[in-house]
Amino acid sequence: MLEISDLSAGYDGIPALRSVDFRVGPREHVAILGPNGAGKTTLLKAISGTVVPDSGSIRFDKRDLLAQAPHKRVEAGIVHVPQGRMIFASMTVADNLRLGSHRAAAQNRHDERRELVFEIFPALADMLGRDGGALSGGQQQMLAVARGVMACPRLLMLDEPSMGLAPRAADDIFEGVTRLMQSETTAMVVVEQRAHQALEVCDRAYVLESGEVSLEATSRELLADERLAAAYLGSEL
Ligand SMILES: Nc1ncnc2c1ncn2[C@@H]1O[C@H](COP(=O)(O)OP(=O)(O)OP(=O)(O)O)[C@@H](O)[C@H]1O
Ligand SMILES: [Mg+2]
Repeated sequence: MLEISDLSAGYDGIPALRSVDFRVGPREHVAILGPNGAGKTTLLKAISGTVVPDSGSIRFDKRDLLAQAPHKRVEAGIVHVPQGRMIFASMTVADNLRLGSHRAAAQNRHDERRELVFEIFPALADMLGRDGGALSGGQQQMLAVARGVMACPRLLMLDEPSMGLAPRAADDIFEGVTRLMQSETTAMVVVEQRAHQALEVCDRAYVLESGEVSLEATSRELLADERLAAAYLGSEL
């Protein structure tokens, strides 16, 4: 479904991704792990189109994604929930969710998707009239993920959904992401510092280090092999 080959990208000539190969199959859930500054966010940005790579190819459904503007990629079903809680603070929760369904394929499915969102994050159902800015950090992150779900993605990319949250709030987010992954057969990519939890819900994982893929393995392999996990994931696992 998504096939990336030999992708390199950087900022002002400083490389952030070096010759990365990465793929996501239909229905597959893939984790991207790795230390700060490894290039995880840059990889997602290259897929959604906010970073223009220096070389390499990205194909989605066999089509050349790099030839398409970012909004065309959204229309094709690639939905990126960025790092940091990007919600509209002065809009209500209901309106934030409605914005998620602006994608053509999602417009007629607003009510059905909202039901799914309430199953994933029940807390949001009681907050529809509140302004986004009045929510706690954890609730804002739920809203950010929920808005992505509203778009009926074909490939949903979540960049560190639990980042910067207190452990309880991070747990709530992770429970929601787990429910989402169990109920949706859509392809998903999740960048996560909580390596163990990410592996529990994902089929496969890539470890990025200094812009390079240092390991690609199934979650089962990583969870089963303590030495491998210790070598690549340190104390996080
Ligand atoms: N807008 C930018 N301008 C210049 N350099 C950048 C920019 N964004 C990222 N970088 C650099 O590119 C490299 C990869 O950054 P990236 O944000 O992709 O890493 P990351 O794995 O997502 O890290 P984190 O875990 O901290 O989110 C880092 O060295 C970073 O400093
Ligand atoms: Mg990042």
